[in-house]
Amino acid sequence: MRSLIASAAAVLPYLGGVDAFWRMNCAVIQTGRVDPVVNPGAIAAHAHSIVGGSNIGINSTYDTMTNSSCTSCELRSDKSAYWTPLMYYWYPNGSFFEVPHGGSVVYYLGRGPNVNTTIPFPPGFMMLSGDKSARSYDNETYSYGNAEYPGRPIADRVSFTCLVGSGPQPPNLPYMFNASSCVNGLRAQVVFQSCWDGVHLYKTDNSHVAYLSGLDNGICPPNYPHQLPTLFIETNYAVGQVPNGTDDNRFVFSQGDPTGYGFHADFLNGWDMAVQTEAVNTCLYNGAFNGVVQECPVLSADDTTGYAENCPERPRQVDEEVHGMLDRLPGCIEVTYGPGAAPASSMMCPPTAPKPYVTPTADSVPLVTASPTPGGQFGLPEQEYMGCYNDTAASGYYRTLNSLKYINYTSMTVEFCQQYCMDNGYIWSGVEYAQECHCDNYINPTAIAAEPGMPNQCTWNCGGTLTDGGLQELCGGLGYIDVYRNTNTSFNASGNNDNTAGNAQPYTPAAGFGPNYLGCYSDPPGFNTATLEGPTLEANNMSIAVCETFCQQGPGYRYYGLEYSTQWYA
Ligand SMILES: *[C@@H]1O[C@H](CO)[C@@H](O)[C@H](O)[C@H]1NC(C)=O
Ligand SMILES: *[C@@H]1O[C@H](CO)[C@@H](O)[C@H](O)[C@H]1NC(C)=O
Ligand SMILES: *[C@@H]1O[C@H](CO)[C@@H](O)[C@H](O)[C@H]1NC(C)=O
Ligand SMILES: *[C@@H]1O[C@H](CO)[C@@H](O)[C@H](O)[C@H]1NC(C)=O
Ligand SMILES: *[C@@H]1O[C@H](CO)[C@@H](O)[C@H](O)[C@H]1NC(C)=O
Ligand SMILES: *[C@@H]1O[C@H](CO)[C@@H](O)[C@H](O)[C@H]1NC(C)=O
Ligand SMILES: *[C@@H]1O[C@H](CO)[C@@H](O)[C@H](O)[C@H]1NC(C)=O
Ligand SMILES: *[C@@H]1O[C@H](CO)[C@@H](O)[C@H](O)[C@H]1NC(C)=O
Ligand SMILES: *[C@@H]1O[C@H](CO)[C@@H](O)[C@H](O)[C@H]1NC(C)=O
Ligand SMILES: *[C@@H]1O[C@H](CO)[C@@H](O)[C@H](O)[C@H]1NC(C)=O
Ligand SMILES: *[C@@H]1O[C@H](CO)[C@@H](O)[C@H](O)[C@H]1NC(C)=O
Ligand SMILES: *[C@@H]1O[C@H](CO)[C@@H](O)[C@H](O)[C@H]1NC(C)=O
Repeated sequence: MRSLIASAAAVLPYLGGVDAFWRMNCAVIQTGRVDPVVNPGAIAAHAHSIVGGSNIGINSTYDTMTNSSCTSCELRSDKSAYWTPLMYYWYPNGSFFEVPHGGSVVYYLGRGPNVNTTIPFPPGFMMLSGDKSARSYDNETYSYGNAEYPGRPIADRVSFTCLVGSGPQPPNLPYMFNASSCVNGLRAQVVFQSCWDGVHLYKTDNSHVAYLSGLDNGICPPNYPHQLPTLFIETNYAVGQVPNGTDDNRFVFSQGDPTGYGFHADFLNGWDMAVQTEAVNTCLYNGAFNGVVQECPVLSADDTTGYAENCPERPRQVDEEVHGMLDRLPGCIEVTYGPGAAPASSMMCPPTAPKPYVTPTADSVPLVTASPTPGGQFGLPEQEYMGCYNDTAASGYYRTLNSLKYINYTSMTVEFCQQYCMDNGYIWSGVEYAQECHCDNYINPTAIAAEPGMPNQCTWNCGGTLTDGGLQELCGGLGYIDVYRNTNTSFNASGNNDNTAGNAQPYTPAAGFGPNYLGCYSDPPGFNTATLEGPTLEANNMSIAVCETFCQQGPGYRYYGLEYSTQWYA
């Protein structure tokens, strides 16, 4: 499993002010020479790691991005793509080793005195910040400014933080420094242009946008009257994981840059506009809102903790190795030290070199998600969907289905789990966390099924459907399990309640809860229709046996329920 190395810092050392912002963690979705902003329809000059919408590819646009079946960023409503260069270590023998990283953190910042005029990024909008050919500090090109809000060298849009252990932390600098001593990673940071001309969604020289006077603060130039959210991206490179990577001067970015001055990032909008608009209006204008997505209602509703598992890295679109040990940089990029700008001619493979194959974007048509209905059949024959239940995995708790567990991301589907549990003699099966299958012949009586009308917590995509081309199925969530029950009355439920799963303890059904117990469903007072809508028996002598007898007297009721100690519903 991949871990997210990039971690959201509670404080932004590089950024001044205490204005409102939100941030999201993002895992890698695609790597390689893909850059639909700079090289649409073609193989890009150098390699990137991309986070965001699954539909990212060389031909991506706003319309195809919003069709992404999922995003590797935290917010489901943001199918945008964000990308930064890969980093390599250049060994003395000429080989390049890709410096691992686990994703990026993307910030949306509300900035400057005119923050309450900020508008959302429009559909079709894209931009690039930084200059891949820069190899030294440009102290002459300044952002717009006036007496009150002075300009600043735009070279400061790029910065690096060397994450060392304890003690005082090194300063942020606009170039790569002391990389080999950054034991907790070297974090590359880019701030984007926040001022828009209001006309062009993109111009190849990025003159459709301009920086705030202070880059991450201040005011917009008069000819760029529309203020956008200030986008800021952090990518943490695990420089400490390079074997024998002790020479600071041998860390290079994929654009052939050993200095860091040529670091850059791209943004391709793929937001659900209604959500982005409301988030900008309600959560960026308000200085009290401090970045926690859960505190912004419109974003909180879209937050998913399991973005990395829910939307894992897609197969490479450009069939060219970019990870591990390579003979040369992808695209045959030469390393150039500057201080002059890198020549464009150093950026191409010879025309005779074979071009890598480009796979058509995998999910240009979104995968259709197959959603089961509680009480209905789903998956294999005679399998009934019981609902989305809570499932506390903490030690000392019984799982919802506690007897047998199997974990396999690549093979996990609803059908796989149903079959697995049947093969092992269990009536109940449940899929969870994209990759887990749980089996039992009883359901834990403390498990509670999702209430109608409440947010569904079982939203994670099954790992197993990504490659087989079938419908995308759902496999629970974090702490929530989609539960199925085999309704075949001839089924031999021979599976032992033997704790094979290695759970806290073998679950022994509480007294009176037999194998026919179906779990706890909510039936809130005041509802006109109870969860079960058949006849009701109220009796002071209520017991499971009494209810069972009552329900069996009726016209073949399959379910019965106990509530409020004296009521039964069939
Ligand atoms: C988005 O998906 C819909 C539904 O499958 C499809 O009709 C449409 O062509 C797709 N749009 C793009 C731009 O890929
Ligand atoms: C170059 O050196 C690295 C690190 O020692 C090694 O892993 C790699 O295989 C070497 N490459 C070649 C072509 O020998
Ligand atoms: C923005 O804030 C200023 C100063 O508080 C106020 O005068 C102005 O009306 C506000 N504009 C909007 C669009 O809310
Ligand atoms: C920029 O740096 C160069 C070299 O250090 C120096 O000669 C020049 O005066 C500087 N220009 C500005 C505007 O600071
Ligand atoms: C880089 O490391 C050297 C040696 O440890 C140290 O003297 C210097 O201050 C470091 N540079 C920065 C910017 O931290
Ligand atoms: C690292 O250096 C040591 C000592 O020189 C050597 O034995 C080892 O093979 C090197 N490892 C790699 C991956 O280059
Ligand atoms: C990109 O678009 C072009 C032009 O429509 C098309 O020929 C090509 O096959 C597309 N490539 C991919 C990888 O989708
Ligand atoms: C379900 O949630 C309830 C209420 O928080 C809790 O008491 C119970 O232990 C949970 N059951 C499981 C199986 O997680
Ligand atoms: C996971 O399932 C796949 C496909 O069925 C199989 O090839 C692989 O060996 C399984 N992995 C493990 C660890 O069992
Ligand atoms: C029901 O279970 C019996 C006994 O295992 C089996 O023979 C039969 O095929 C099953 N029916 C279905 C529809 O799976
Ligand atoms: C059910 O399975 C158990 C264990 O596999 C076996 O001993 C028993 O005979 C089976 N019963 C029926 C009715 O098939
Ligand atoms: C429970 O009470 C009902 C209604 O009062 C009665 O019909 C039934 O016989 C009683 N059952 C038992 C087991 O006492």
